[in-house]
Amino acid sequence: MKRLKPLLGCIASLSILIGGISQGQSLVPTALPPEEVAPSARVARDEAAREAFRNLNFFSQGGGMHLPPNLWALMKKPLLPLANRPYFALEKREMSRRWGINWIGGKPEGIFDVRYKNHEVGVLGCVACHSGKAAGQFFVGLGNKNIDPSRIGRDAHLLERVWKYLGHVGKKDADYKYIESSAFEFSRTLGDPSYGNLTQGLVPTSNIRTWFYKMAGKPLPKVFPRSAVKVPALWGYGEKRKVGQFCDGFGNGAHPGWGIAVELAAGQRVDVVRDYLPKISAAEDMLGDFLPPKYPFAIEQTRAVRGKAIFERSCAHCHGTYETDPAGLPVYQAPKYLPWEMVETDRDRIDGITDEFLDLVRASPLNDVVQNNADKGKGYFAQRLNGIWARFPYLHNGSVPNIESLLTPPAQRPKAFDLRDAGEAYRFDPNKLGLTLPEPGSPRKASF
Ligand code: HEC
Ligand code: HEC
Repeated sequence: MKRLKPLLGCIASLSILIGGISQGQSLVPTALPPEEVAPSARVARDEAAREAFRNLNFFSQGGGMHLPPNLWALMKKPLLPLANRPYFALEKREMSRRWGINWIGGKPEGIFDVRYKNHEVGVLGCVACHSGKAAGQFFVGLGNKNIDPSRIGRDAHLLERVWKYLGHVGKKDADYKYIESSAFEFSRTLGDPSYGNLTQGLVPTSNIRTWFYKMAGKPLPKVFPRSAVKVPALWGYGEKRKVGQFCDGFGNGAHPGWGIAVELAAGQRVDVVRDYLPKISAAEDMLGDFLPPKYPFAIEQTRAVRGKAIFERSCAHCHGTYETDPAGLPVYQAPKYLPWEMVETDRDRIDGITDEFLDLVRASPLNDVVQNNADKGKGYFAQRLNGIWARFPYLHNGSVPNIESLLTPPAQRPKAFDLRDAGEAYRFDPNKLGLTLPEPGSPRKASF
């Protein structure tokens, strides 16, 4: 991004433009897309896909991302019968502030009660990470800006130990024991401090890599990058997967395999994953129907027109051009991939993709579906910018709080910023387009 220096001063127009793009608005009439679809059909498909994704989890045969039996059911109960306060130990404050779970309509988002063989199991679904808030609005398919997998793992592990030895009374049947040990494996991997995330809002993809080492019976290498990245927005994924999954294009999106990598990392069995490959495939296909969230504030059209010209001159050769269908909805395109030398953001994500790791991917028991793209994994996508207003903090590593900072030379960007309530309305700055920052010299700044 160091190439953006000459663009200082154009921020206002650019930010307005990006708002325009996010709405899928067309400033200049564009040609009809090749496949014309009635707008209401696309909107209806988007709504149906979001609803289905919101309710999706892959807990199966007692394994996956979950807690031990009955622990979640207990956590949901009021502490005192008269207190009328559900989630006794875990009110909004703990769930959203400490763990980054979205708290929507009085409930934690992406946590499910599943009944399995006479046991109540608390299960984590995809939207625990793949939904989030921006400017006070909640969007399924936006990345969770505050999720803290490491802390969830460490806290869950502690609670699970207490529950195992002190909480549960009565005999444990074989199913109970399996679910319990699988929950322990998940929380141990998630909470491992040696490769976990160090700040909120970042997910260590090192977790996923551990699975391949485990399958091969190999110890983790001494240098094992955390490769923590922000959770990406999923709209446009239908086109993106054709050129590669993830921020570095490393995953081959022709097969559904990587979509379930989190479940494998959580300890799910290979035979179980094989059984539900069609379900994963359907889930990934459904992401192609998502539409970007509309920019909720006013757009000044004259500045937007000016910004569009700047964007076309300075950004479009990497981030592409943007077309809309007759209803003003985006016609998705695949992003362009750039080698790291062209980008020069941090390398931690791609440094995890070593030759040894690639050998393990090729040798894994799921190597017919979980495959890499040999030509990628050494750089980053210049992501398509649909709905970019909601996707802060920016870059694959979430290191830039707003667009104004992004268009500033790296040395002048804030070194630290506050993620508290990142998706709430009061944290959205429509002028900087993204997170608010403390006023220069304000007392808040001293706390960094
Ligand atoms: C712990 C948080 C977390 C959970 C839970 C999670 N994901 Fe993800 N997901 C991520 C992160 C982080 C990435 C980006 C990884 C990268 O770019 O290196 C990602 C990437 C993806 C991608 C690729 C997107 C792209 O732009 O290439 C797909 C598809 C996906 N996830 C599907 C799923 C599905 C399906 C589930 C539920 C089984 C799920 N995820 C659960 C964090 C999560
Ligand atoms: C040389 C190619 C190139 C040019 C020119 C370029 N970008 Fe980027 N941009 C990238 C790449 C690559 C990334 C992803 C880097 C990363 O995540 O590490 C990126 C990331 C971004 C992001 C963050 C996306 C996200 O999901 O967080 C925004 C916003 C952005 N660019 C806006 C712009 C704007 C506005 C311009 C023009 C002023 C521009 N870029 C010019 C290559 C480019």
